[in-house]
Amino acid sequence: MCGIVGYAGPKDCVDILLDTLSKLEYRGYDSAGIAVFDDGDIKVVKHQGKLAYLIELLKKEGRPRGNVGIGHTRWATHGEPSDINSHPQSGKRVSIVHNGIIENYAQIKEFLIDKGYTFESQTDTETVAKLLDYYYDGDDPLNTVSRALRDIRGSYALGIIFKDYPDKIYAVRKDSPLIVGVGKGENYIASDMTALLEYTRQYILLEENEIAAISAGTISIRNIYGDPVDKQVLTADWDADAAQKGGYEHFMLKEIHEQPTAIKTTIMPRVSDGMVDFSECGLDDKKLSSYKNIYIVACGTAMHAGVVGKYVIEQLARTKVIVDMASEFRYRNPLIEKGDLVILISQSGETADTKEALNISKRLGADTLALVNVKGSSIARDADMVMYTHAGPEISVASTKAFTVQISMMYMFAFKLAYAKGLIDTDTYKDYVAKLIGIPDKIEAALDESYVSQAQHAASNVTAAQSLLYIGRGFDYALSMEGSLKLKEISYIHSEAYAAGELKHGPIALISQDTPVIAVATQRSLYEKTLSNIKEVKARGAKVILICSDGFAVKDDEADYVVRTPDYDEFLMPIIASVPLQLIAYYTSVLKGIDVDKPRNLAKSVTVE
Ligand code: F6R
Repeated sequence: MCGIVGYAGPKDCVDILLDTLSKLEYRGYDSAGIAVFDDGDIKVVKHQGKLAYLIELLKKEGRPRGNVGIGHTRWATHGEPSDINSHPQSGKRVSIVHNGIIENYAQIKEFLIDKGYTFESQTDTETVAKLLDYYYDGDDPLNTVSRALRDIRGSYALGIIFKDYPDKIYAVRKDSPLIVGVGKGENYIASDMTALLEYTRQYILLEENEIAAISAGTISIRNIYGDPVDKQVLTADWDADAAQKGGYEHFMLKEIHEQPTAIKTTIMPRVSDGMVDFSECGLDDKKLSSYKNIYIVACGTAMHAGVVGKYVIEQLARTKVIVDMASEFRYRNPLIEKGDLVILISQSGETADTKEALNISKRLGADTLALVNVKGSSIARDADMVMYTHAGPEISVASTKAFTVQISMMYMFAFKLAYAKGLIDTDTYKDYVAKLIGIPDKIEAALDESYVSQAQHAASNVTAAQSLLYIGRGFDYALSMEGSLKLKEISYIHSEAYAAGELKHGPIALISQDTPVIAVATQRSLYEKTLSNIKEVKARGAKVILICSDGFAVKDDEADYVVRTPDYDEFLMPIIASVPLQLIAYYTSVLKGIDVDKPRNLAKSVTVE
């Protein structure tokens, strides 16, 4: 949610702020704004809508000139997207950019109104700007920031500038990510390292309520009591190209095509002597097989990876797996106890609900394992054990490569657990691992050959629909859920996923000739059953797009269009069959002229509840 940047150095900071904001637009794009020290004053320019409108405005009305400033791209929480509600928000002597939610902003606002302050926006952020103004006594702004922090409740990453300190940016965070980028004679702040990759790969992770003060040549970090804190400078291992479109029309398409590499990079370092090696996080066979129950807790696409994980682990390793949406888990007093393992899956590692689920699980005494893509993110740091997926930065709001690497890790987990429990012998174990290793090449070949054209054709069959259903059984039901989520978020077509066997219990009432059905059938053992369900919907007029393996026989009257996946061991098919589902959603979005990477109302990384 919301992107924050800041620059202090010798260069024209407007160029740098706009460029770094463009890298963060995926975090929110309701409005954008900058605040720059210009000729002894803070000049704020902001505009509703995408960053392009702000750039136009700066062209039309002239741009501030300065070397120190902050910038913001917004995903609205309090107050509709509008010029006035855009950030930066200001008091008389301070301007701030904010990501997060200030829960007690109404009380603070009331207090400040009593003191004579007036408010022009509907945002919670303006109350923080005015509160800082209220406490500011012309002395060290660090004291002002730490004083104000004692009053505010909620989540925040804040970039702050004070009029009297034109060479400095202050930064602080709680429950929202924020880093300090370390350059040579110039320094930065950013809510996400991808913003800075072209400028520096050195960074400092701010811990909760540490306050950073940066200028061109200095970085000082103190805790809320004003004591200096020693921080380690880290190096990002993502290169700048990873955050560029690299010739693809959209990040989503690029990221779909990156999947073979992402899977290889994630699994290969964890294969040793043909078997799975999780020693990186201390998860040996003894410990792994000791868990009574496994909980997988996550949100959205990551949660769907957990559903695939449940099927895989229960089927092969015969350990009970409970999958939960983090937003439900946190309020339902879950039956977790010592001796259980809770796996938190998250691409960003910052999702607010997943983070809270992690806290609850730790409090209840379970072991926690984070499966996370972003290094050093909160969930990765707070869990007992962490395993990183190595998908590289995922910029498109719709998650693709993060999903296939997450499910690849679920397979590794299941293989290892099944072996540790003595349920499979060494040959079978090695055979499974070898098959997993073979998957990237299968996907690569399918992307080169027929996946794209088949998905384009399938998309042209659903673009006009108001609503459609995805159906499947077993693994294919899990994939249907993910396919349906992907389609609705980037094409705005309403769709639901149902277990195919559930159709007759209600959802079949939705079927008409105007409701296309995407049937996923990659499991030979369930194929006949799913075909019967397909016949039921066809008998009610639905057009059917069938996604099935190359070797499956399909009669003319059984589907209106067939998308073929390569033949492979059906136990591993979910990884291969995810890709056409992603491509169908992608091309539907493109055909509808939607901004694929930045669909309406959404933002990457949901750091608020
Ligand atoms: C959908 C999507 C979201 C995320 C969800 C969890 O395409 O991207 O559903 O999967 O918000 O995000 P992470 O994985 O960052 O915790």
